[in-house]
Amino acid sequence: MTNIDPNNLPRHIAIIMDGNGRWAKQHAMGRIRGHKRGAQAVRTTVTACREIGIAYLTLFAFSSENWGRPGEEVNALMDLLADYLDKETPTLQKRGIRLAAIGDIDKLYLPVRKKLLEVMKLTERNDKMVLNLALSYGSRDEIVAAVRKMVADQRDGKLKIDDIDKETLARYLFTASMPDPDLLIRTSGEYRISNFLLWQLAYTELYFTDVLWPDFKKSDLLAAIAVYQQRERRFGLTSEQIQGK
Ligand code: IPE
Ligand code: IPE
Ligand code: MG
Repeated sequence: MTNIDPNNLPRHIAIIMDGNGRWAKQHAMGRIRGHKRGAQAVRTTVTACREIGIAYLTLFAFSSENWGRPGEEVNALMDLLADYLDKETPTLQKRGIRLAAIGDIDKLYLPVRKKLLEVMKLTERNDKMVLNLALSYGSRDEIVAAVRKMVADQRDGKLKIDDIDKETLARYLFTASMPDPDLLIRTSGEYRISNFLLWQLAYTELYFTDVLWPDFKKSDLLAAIAVYQQRERRFGLTSEQIQGK
């Protein structure tokens, strides 16, 4: 397995888990079977991140655009989410993982939403890792909602226009309490962001792999982290400045 440097870990990894449908097709199965195998890869990845010592893991599980998929598939995805929460809660507790969620949570089917809020409450004191699920999430919607809330707060005298800066806007996003991702992984050979964390990814290192999400293993995660560790994050400065020469 790839060796990684424990002193240079990404604090926050975000993953666009893509390719369940194509995996199913390759195996002559229906798309829903692909999502089931995808849920298995979620378990593996959460465990691996916890073992490695990643502080924040954000998983893009369902986009605001995914509501437009066939009803049967949407239902199956909601059921899978409920099933994941049921089965994984003891593990989250045992391993000290706090569950968080970003997105238009109110749109989720009621039993799923209830379960999600329950598990978030139950795990709120866990401090070893944050597992953040992006559900019914769209980044443009998130930014629009933030702007609306800022305007309302300005109207109510809670916010002054002159005080609005980058940090202010960041505080109005769903991710207010989290650092920006250091590493974004997208599986399945697609090279796009698909309306995910547009603001937060400003200086994130991007990593694309052809591996389909259901096939994603700990070794793939380690390979991504190893590539991340070879990158020089310059944040607009020069290499000499970064290296303190
Ligand atoms: C990702 O796999 C899972 C979700 C978007 C919910 P897809 O379902 O998008 O798989 P492909 O892209 O059709 O292969
Ligand atoms: C992005 O994948 C959303 C999730 C992984 C949940 P999609 O498969 O929906 O994205 P597009 O349609 O290929 O851009
Ligand atoms: Mg896809």
